[in-house]
Amino acid sequence: MSIKLAPGRIVVASHNAGKVREILDLLAPFGFQVKSAAELKLPEPEETGATFAENAVIKASAAAEASKSPALADDSGLAVMALNGEPGIFSARWGGKDRDFGLAMQKVEDRLQAAGASEPEERVARFVAVLALALPDGRVETFTGRVDGTLVWPPRGDQGFGYDPIFLPEGHTRTFGEMSAEEKHGWQPGSGKTPLSHRARAFQRFARDCLDVTE
Ligand code: IMP
Repeated sequence: MSIKLAPGRIVVASHNAGKVREILDLLAPFGFQVKSAAELKLPEPEETGATFAENAVIKASAAAEASKSPALADDSGLAVMALNGEPGIFSARWGGKDRDFGLAMQKVEDRLQAAGASEPEERVARFVAVLALALPDGRVETFTGRVDGTLVWPPRGDQGFGYDPIFLPEGHTRTFGEMSAEEKHGWQPGSGKTPLSHRARAFQRFARDCLDVTE
């Protein structure tokens, strides 16, 4: 039985401004009073999990416990097939301590070059997001979203965040970095349409199960 959430206070348990913006957009139609972990000055727990789901649960549970409110956390990243799924759960860490994603994208490109991956079919990648919803009573649930694509070089566009400028989603001619927020993660509850981004797809599952959105 899924957790059922009534509108009230909810904490978005992330200190990543790009992610927080996207989750706020996704939560907007539902009438929650949303606070971010940064606004509440919640400490950032160490991400010691071995999977996206484990790390999402660590972040959501810590925020729910500290804030005494339901908390939603996302753990996400880019998995590059030719690099055996790297950077994966280490996607944020490839940007170094300054979270420099110019550097992180260059590192992905250098590894692809070293692997001789120059054709689009050799440069297949996937964004994965796991959203975890945790309650102060300890209940927790996770929802996964994925989007497949290929990696381009050089980076294109200045929208979004992280690895968006090198990710070309399947069936599209523009990278996430060239798309508006609406194109990347826009979703209308009840529209029957699947959104594009991994985070919005995970959110759609969360909304279906916990907010009783009918498609
Ligand atoms: P974490 O989940 O906070 O450990 O960090 C996930 C990292 O994956 C982010 O810092 C980004 O580098 C990358 N990432 C996750 N989702 C996206 C996205 O939608 N666009 C671009 N990069 C992303």
